[in-house]
Amino acid sequence: MTTNIILLGPPGAGKGTQARRLVDERGMTQLSTGDMLREARTSDTEMGHRVAEVMDRGELVTDDIVIGLIEEHMEKDRTNGFIFDGFPRTLAQADALARLLEKHGERLAAVVEMQVDDDVLVKRITLRATCAECGAVYNDEMRPIPSDGKCETCGSTEFKRREDDNEESLKQRLLEYYKKTSPLIGYYYANGQLKRIDGLGEIDEVAEEIDKVLD
Ligand code: AP5
Ligand code: MG
Repeated sequence: MTTNIILLGPPGAGKGTQARRLVDERGMTQLSTGDMLREARTSDTEMGHRVAEVMDRGELVTDDIVIGLIEEHMEKDRTNGFIFDGFPRTLAQADALARLLEKHGERLAAVVEMQVDDDVLVKRITLRATCAECGAVYNDEMRPIPSDGKCETCGSTEFKRREDDNEESLKQRLLEYYKKTSPLIGYYYANGQLKRIDGLGEIDEVAEEIDKVLD
C-alpha cells in the first residue's frame, strides 16, 4: 500500500504548488482534475467545447466526466502514491474515489484541508502565471518568474495565464467551493481522515505543515 492524500481547499489555496513539490521530493503522482480538464478542453470536440465553457464560467464540470478521468489515470499512472489535487469536489466524487481506492487495494492516508482567507485568494489567483511547458506555478508578487525569464524547472521562456483567473470567474469558483465542495470537510472529519493546516504562510512553511502530516 502507498501513501495517498487529498489536497482540499478553495481556488488559489496552493494545492497545485504543493502537489508539484511532493512529486519532485517524494516521487508521488499528482492527479489534478483541473489539469486533466484543461487538456481535454483543447480537443476540438463537442465535449472539449462544453468543458471549456463550464470552466470559464467557474462552475463545476459534471461528476461523470471527472470521475472517468480519475479512473483512467489511476489505472495507468500508479507510482509512489497519489496526490488528489482538486478532486473530489462533491460528495458523489468522494464516494466514487472511495470505491476506486478500494478496487486498487489502496486507502487514504489523509485529507489535508488548506485553509486560506478569501481576500488572499483573489491576490494569488489574479497574479498567477504558469509555465507553458511544464506547468510550474508562479505568482507576479509571491513567486515571480526568475529575472532571466526562464522557468526554474524546465528552462522554458513561455508562460501563460488561465482563462478562469479573473475576478468574475473566481467569484463563481468560490461559490461553487462553499456550496458543493466544503461539505467534504465535514464528511472527512467524520471519517477521521481530516487534517487542517494553515495555508496562509510562505510556500515553504505550508510545505513543512504537509510534511508533518505525511510523516
Ligand atoms: P482547478 O484547476 O482545480 O482550480 P482550483 O481548484 O480553482 O484551484 P487552483 O488551481 O486555481 O488553485 P491551487 O489551489 O492549485 O493554487 P496554486 O498552487 O496554483 O479547477 C479549475 C476548474 O476545473 C474548476 O473551476 C472546474 O470548472 C473544473 N474542475 C476541476 N476539478 C473538478 C472536479 N473535481 N469536479 C468538477 N469540476 C472540476 O496557487 C495559486 C497562486 O498562489 C499561484 O500564483 C502560486 O504561486 C501562489 N501561491 C501558492 N501557495 C502560496 C503561498 N503559500 N503563499 C503565497 N503564494 C502562494
Ligand atoms: Mg491548481
